[in-house]
Amino acid sequence: MKKVRVAVLGYGHLGKWHCQKVEAHKEVAEFVAIVEKFPASQEAAKAAHPGVRIVSDIKEIVNDIDAAFIVTPTSTHFELVKYLLENNKHVFCEKPVCSNDNEASKLKEVAAGKNVILQVGHSERFHEAWDKLRDKLQSLPTPYSVRINRYAPFKGRATDVDVVQDLGIHDLDLLMYLFKSKPISVVATGYKIRTDKWDHASIYLKMENECEAHVVVGRNATREVRDLEVVSKDGTIHIDLFANRFAVATSGKNEDGTFVVEETYGKRDHLFLEHKNFYESVRTGRPAVVNLKDGMNAVHLVDCTLKALDFDTTITVKLA
Ligand SMILES: NC(=O)c1ccc[n+]([C@@H]2O[C@H](COP(=O)([O-])OP(=O)(O)OC[C@H]3O[C@@H](n4cnc5c(N)ncnc54)[C@H](O)[C@@H]3O)[C@@H](O)[C@H]2O)c1
Repeated sequence: MKKVRVAVLGYGHLGKWHCQKVEAHKEVAEFVAIVEKFPASQEAAKAAHPGVRIVSDIKEIVNDIDAAFIVTPTSTHFELVKYLLENNKHVFCEKPVCSNDNEASKLKEVAAGKNVILQVGHSERFHEAWDKLRDKLQSLPTPYSVRINRYAPFKGRATDVDVVQDLGIHDLDLLMYLFKSKPISVVATGYKIRTDKWDHASIYLKMENECEAHVVVGRNATREVRDLEVVSKDGTIHIDLFANRFAVATSGKNEDGTFVVEETYGKRDHLFLEHKNFYESVRTGRPAVVNLKDGMNAVHLVDCTLKALDFDTTITVKLA
């Protein structure tokens, strides 16, 4: 089978890692080009990947590739995804796939009838903990409540977008992916602390199956926290995504008299797995692990949350 000829668009913070993963898949991918606008980053790309063409515009190499990884700022995603689809290229686009619902509907139109793979970079779906959580959820009585926290001290990155678009989108996607119940409404409160955009948001969602979710995201916190907790009348499940710890407190007592069972789980290379899945889809035609519909639903939930924040009201969610 022929290798997939690929380009990486954007050699910034995450683009560098994507380039490493392309190199790590040499048996299936031919690294054709890096597209980067900023001269200093072009130089860095040239030094790190001497055999790869470095250009400043996708148009210069579009005829020489089969697929592209978009790792540019979010505000550029829509135009780049649209251009690549129109040119019948397979696309891996970092999250979010575009900036709002309007752009998402346009991408849906462009993608219709195209025989190409479009995968979205919702990398948080690849934690090993989710396999175990899914098992537990199967026997969990509803309603239950879900709480997800994702906050960290200010890092100065991704300030072209608010914290819901940058971080919250991971958790809004996880809610739909893990709990298989659709959010039906959202209310939120937030603060603009360090930028002119929402830097902290506390998001409450009602789900179709009468469960509730509370997502807290922030980029001006005092410490770094990433965890998820599910509470039902059967007990509590807690996952610390930094410590890779899975803990369960049932409603009963353990054999040794304790009330909590803790175990650790393995760390996975999410980006590597995203690349592996993408090449498999491109080479075999298997549907993308995270597709345009998933990406659009995540963008819609972000849009609803931002409306809830901006207008201080409850917003009804209408997923695709
Ligand atoms: N999945 C995740 O967990 C995760 C983590 C971090 C970032 N991201 C996403 O990745 C994207 C990039 O984030 P980042 O932190 O690497 O940003 P960054 O600003 O560090 O890098 C972006 C790079 O793209 C270049 N660029 C801008 N417009 C371009 C264009 N039209 N063509 C080619 N290059 C262009 C810039 O010069 C810059 O070097 C964002 O959309 C972000 O949401 C995802």
